[in-house]
Amino acid sequence: MVQLPIYLDNHATTRCDPRVLQAMLPYFTEKYGNASSINHIFGTEAHEAVEQARRQVAALIGAAENEIIFTSGATESNNLALKGVARMYRHKGNHIITVATEHKAVLDPCKRLAHDGYEVTVLAVDELGVVDPQCVAEAIRPQTILVSVMLANNEIGTIQPLAEIGRICREKGVLLHTDAAQAVGKIPVNVDELQVDLLSLSGHKIYGPKGIGALFVRKRDRRVRLEPQIDGGGQESGLRSGTLAVPLIVGLGAACQLCRELMPQEALRVKQLRDRLWQGIREGLDGVRLNGHPVQRLPNNLNVSFAGVKGEALLLAMKDVAISTGSACTTARLGPSHVLKAIGLDDELADASVRFGLGRFNTEEEIEWVIGQVIDTVRRLRRYATVWELRPSNATV
Ligand SMILES: Cc1ncc(COP(=O)(O)O)c(C=O)c1O
Repeated sequence: MVQLPIYLDNHATTRCDPRVLQAMLPYFTEKYGNASSINHIFGTEAHEAVEQARRQVAALIGAAENEIIFTSGATESNNLALKGVARMYRHKGNHIITVATEHKAVLDPCKRLAHDGYEVTVLAVDELGVVDPQCVAEAIRPQTILVSVMLANNEIGTIQPLAEIGRICREKGVLLHTDAAQAVGKIPVNVDELQVDLLSLSGHKIYGPKGIGALFVRKRDRRVRLEPQIDGGGQESGLRSGTLAVPLIVGLGAACQLCRELMPQEALRVKQLRDRLWQGIREGLDGVRLNGHPVQRLPNNLNVSFAGVKGEALLLAMKDVAISTGSACTTARLGPSHVLKAIGLDDELADASVRFGLGRFNTEEEIEWVIGQVIDTVRRLRRYATVWELRPSNATV
């Protein structure tokens, strides 16, 4: 018997892994020192825990530990990367390039920079959500200081050809930032293979706690400089002042370590569950469409349009399955998803779309249950819609 409700919204956030929680707990109770106050055992043990977490985060993405800056999450990391580079390199140029399907945590800082006098080019994607590296190359001008392209999309799961974009940016001497909040821990990520200079990640997307993230800032082969966005005590090499959130940092480190150990099997298992979900839905229903790239996509993502059904109605009718119609972080804004619009869906089809985000704790039984539930509910909603359309009185409504 499956236990309800079933959680399939792992792009919005993930359950904190119990092993991560266990690692964090002592840092709330006995080991509560300030990591910057290292004249006594309380401080040194907090400091050591932070440095171990820094190594764990660095190891997951192939970085050096002195290239990791702790932040409150991917939103802050993106803001620090974009505004920090823009302001530090203003003397070199004022042009930034990004992509239409980015998270609002990239698009909105870009908007603010545009308001402050920077020029921002927002590149289009194709119908699978992929940006053409050639378009990036052509958009680069002498005044370009930064390119920001996400590694994997949070709504449709499409993975961008980032290594190719990295090669182009290197050749042209332009810095490259990537929002990898959805990719890290789900697919192998190596900052050198991708040739990125800055990378954002988030704890709560990888079975760690909420309110913690990191920014990779390249130092080894080329020293990227940033203007800090938060000034104060000078923590994190002066790039992000404020007392370090030791328990959360320990949790992020433990989450990264677990992802590194589990990823090969976990990615395969989750992908098989995701593929089974899609197969079951396709076999049971007509009028379904996969959004995003069929192959170059996150193993845990499935974004589907159900013709003739409103995504919101499907969500309401399936109270025992936690899914979403799009990005949790933009639900405060009304209207169809900017990502689905960018890949060419009209308003009606965009409104008919649902995102399934699978994760570490989902089981085969859950997926089988969800398949049955989706098929029944979509059929029922379509029947109502047809009956409504056929009602004689409806003609005059
Ligand atoms: C791609 C992407 N970037 C950034 C964020 C924001 O991350 P955080 O909640 O850690 O600020 C999210 C969260 O939905 C995301 O999916």
